Amino acid sequence: MEHGVVGKITGGLQPDALVRRKLTFTVGWSPVAVAQVEGEIEFESMIAMFGGNFGPALLDAGKCLGCGDVGDRGRVVEPILGYLERCRETEDGPPALDGGDPAGSEGQAIANALNVVEDRDSSIAGAQEVRVQRVHAGLGFNCPSRGHECLPGHLPAEHTLAIRMGAAAPEDIEFDLLEVEEVQKFVNCGLGHSNNLPHRHAPAHRCCRSRVTRETRVRSMAKNFPEGFRWGTATAAHQVEGGNWNNDWWAWEHAGGSPCEEPSGDAVDQWHLYEQDIALCAALGFDNYRFSIEWSRIEPEPGLFSRAALDHYRRVCAACHAHGMEPVVTFHHFTTPRWVAAEGGWHTASTVDRFLRFSEVAVGALGDLIGRACTINEPNIVAMIGYQMAFFPPGVSDLDQYRRATDNFIAAHERVVPILRGGPGDFPVGLTLSMADHQAVPADDPDALSTLDALRRDMEDQYLDVCTGDDFLGVQTYSRTRVGPKGVIGGEPGYDILEMGYEFYPEALEACIRRAWEYTGGAIPLLVTENGIGTHDDDQRRRYVTTALEGVLACLADGIDVRGYTYWSLLDNFEWCFGYRPRFGIIDVDRSTQRRIVKPSGEWLGSVARANALIE
Ligand code: BGC
Repeated sequence: MEHGVVGKITGGLQPDALVRRKLTFTVGWSPVAVAQVEGEIEFESMIAMFGGNFGPALLDAGKCLGCGDVGDRGRVVEPILGYLERCRETEDGPPALDGGDPAGSEGQAIANALNVVEDRDSSIAGAQEVRVQRVHAGLGFNCPSRGHECLPGHLPAEHTLAIRMGAAAPEDIEFDLLEVEEVQKFVNCGLGHSNNLPHRHAPAHRCCRSRVTRETRVRSMAKNFPEGFRWGTATAAHQVEGGNWNNDWWAWEHAGGSPCEEPSGDAVDQWHLYEQDIALCAALGFDNYRFSIEWSRIEPEPGLFSRAALDHYRRVCAACHAHGMEPVVTFHHFTTPRWVAAEGGWHTASTVDRFLRFSEVAVGALGDLIGRACTINEPNIVAMIGYQMAFFPPGVSDLDQYRRATDNFIAAHERVVPILRGGPGDFPVGLTLSMADHQAVPADDPDALSTLDALRRDMEDQYLDVCTGDDFLGVQTYSRTRVGPKGVIGGEPGYDILEMGYEFYPEALEACIRRAWEYTGGAIPLLVTENGIGTHDDDQRRRYVTTALEGVLACLADGIDVRGYTYWSLLDNFEWCFGYRPRFGIIDVDRSTQRRIVKPSGEWLGSVARANALIE
């Protein structure tokens, strides 16, 4: 992977103050470089992804400030430098934010405040302003279930901070939590008129606008899911079991120069603790549990099958049944035995035959207990990130190998379906595909649209083309992908960037379900086999899932055959290159004791599952 300095500032600035702002770059979904200061500031970022265009964005306190092509100074670097200049003016200016801030967190407080008052002159002009006298930690004018523009910092009482309010309906604003001057005047004249907001500051408010539209629609729409709608959670062997030393990922975690933040190690020891995890999942209210079987345990050497490992997975399936849950078994979830990788891996045709033989043995041993089978998890991601972005094993950037790996994955899926259908047992079989809400930027730009088409063909269409004869298609979605004329661009300024480096964009699920349905002509039932958010903020998780489920309801209302929703993930677990940092789980794990602690979002989602309705 190539790194390059893309911007530099010297003189006149206060490097220490700026570095405290913790500016980071993200490329695609990976934070890759940090602004460095040694008397001067350098912006370093990674290029050479997707032909040098994989969406770098500059983040400040989790908000996207600017994005675009790294090589394009005008679009990326100059706005960033301008932004930093404005920050400097603020930090040099009157001590607006000191006093009330805990020691050491002034930078964060400023960042928080700037996220709201940023570009004051141009973006607040024409909008209503409220003088806020005091904002407590975690409170703001957020609507609890929607949470826009919450101010996580603490501002001193004497500081007046202008906040714009646009789209939210007056009754949605909790004035109790906020001391606002001239509330009445504001409510009377300002609320619900977000269209008056200047377009330039659209992000947060465009989000509000579509949200209001959506809420109006959802309010008037049933919040019940159809009878028989399935509710599940998911994990994958390598991410939870621990001790999977015999696969390519373990080798990758320990390889010199690997991008992995930390090794998987014992993970959350589900190899031993599966029974209690399954019991917890069932107790919360879910009716299915999706997990994967680890090829490198079942076939540790070519042709040598472990009866003990197969028996283990029989016990896992049996535990699901004992707790009234359907076992949803994935036959390949990212990991491949070391010996297969040594023989060439997925860009080598023999891997397909190896995988088919493994699957035949595994289904022979487990089939009578399987409730639903997923063939290969996100082959598009394994191929793209392993063979183009060099972020997953085998860690290469080679177009020819990428194409061969893709073809082999497609062939492996097509050929394994009849093997799994052959049983024993009789269960639905399908592919689980990573999909994103691809959006052209600008929306009607012909070059952006054709770049988007090419990307989507690569990432989605060629897989959708071969799955219409399956029993279901697993849609897996986490965010959107913005595509400019030259390739993928980063997040839109103003949107929250998650720990994974991509935008908080739960609306993506609805878009992907609709696209899968349209593209396949409604030929195949859909199941959301993964959707979720990596966050330390459990309220944010609930907001994310609420919006995602509203999207599912909207699809159902339009007659789309969506049969279930699976939250990723049951547990906080090993998030591949990111290690244990992102928290996708509805159950927290103290890895020093392996104790499981159910999060409020888990209780809530379980109650949604039990009610089969989107309840507050
Ligand atoms: C993968 C999971 C991963 C999740 C969150 C999906 O692409 O199937 O293994 O943990 O996304 O990043």
